[in-house]
Amino acid sequence: MKTRIVVVTGGASGIGRGVAKAFLAEGDRVVVADVDARAAHDVGREIGAEHVQLDISDAASVDAAVSLVTDRFGPIDVLVNNAGLAGGGGPLTELDADVFDRCVRTNFRGTFLMTRAAGARMAAGGAIVNVSSIGARQPTPGLGHYEATKAAVDALTRSAALELAPRGIRVNAVAPGPVLTPMTAGFAADTAARAAWEARIPLGRIAAVEDVVPAVVFLAGATHITGVSLAVDGGQLLT
Ligand SMILES: NC(=O)c1ccc[n+]([C@@H]2O[C@H](COP(=O)([O-])OP(=O)(O)OC[C@H]3O[C@@H](n4cnc5c(N)ncnc54)[C@H](O)[C@@H]3O)[C@@H](O)[C@H]2O)c1
Repeated sequence: MKTRIVVVTGGASGIGRGVAKAFLAEGDRVVVADVDARAAHDVGREIGAEHVQLDISDAASVDAAVSLVTDRFGPIDVLVNNAGLAGGGGPLTELDADVFDRCVRTNFRGTFLMTRAAGARMAAGGAIVNVSSIGARQPTPGLGHYEATKAAVDALTRSAALELAPRGIRVNAVAPGPVLTPMTAGFAADTAARAAWEARIPLGRIAAVEDVVPAVVFLAGATHITGVSLAVDGGQLLT
């Protein structure tokens, strides 16, 4: 099989790091693209990936990084729009507008900017996999700002899938429930909070990164699937 050029945003931590390792195991050439330059460098060296620093919320940074990757390694075959954050939490009536703005800029604007830059240059057979969240479909109090950005990511997934289909490019999303990563380390260490999350999950446990990664790799190679947002949530959306 052809060696694909795979770019994973937020590839220096958590789900992105696991996704980068999985594509490497498939024999692909992987670029860890992260705002944290030191972590991107270190993780790239540790797992055997290339690395590039970028801020997905900044148009100039995104365009420069996508040009650099394309010039150095060739056209991007797979883009995993994984970088994202909550940036804080709280009821909508009390939420700091700066937290809201940062979350929207990273998750929504960042996914748009990366899709625009990479999608414009992808060849037929290319694929984009966005990392959404089941929060887009099932609310949890205190995460309204974050969940709205993921609903926006699901909407972008459908629009981009339709617009890029004539060029033979597929766009899908993976929507995890809670996953044990640095992003969730705080609440996972709180026994009561963790038990409350686990009580919502029919399969009875919070996902590990390894539970989510195969869905990303699958959708990147699923030649007749486009426009879906695939829940990887231990059944949480059933409840
Ligand atoms: N962990 C969960 O429970 C969970 C559940 C559902 C969805 N998700 C989504 O999965 C994705 C990865 O989450 P994670 O838990 O691995 O988080 P994480 O905090 O472990 O990793 C996120 C990575 O994104 C990078 N990043 C943040 N802002 C960036 C920017 N502007 N430009 C480039 N890189 C940036 C960070 O430096 C970090 O390396 C996110 O989109 C998150 O919303 C996570």
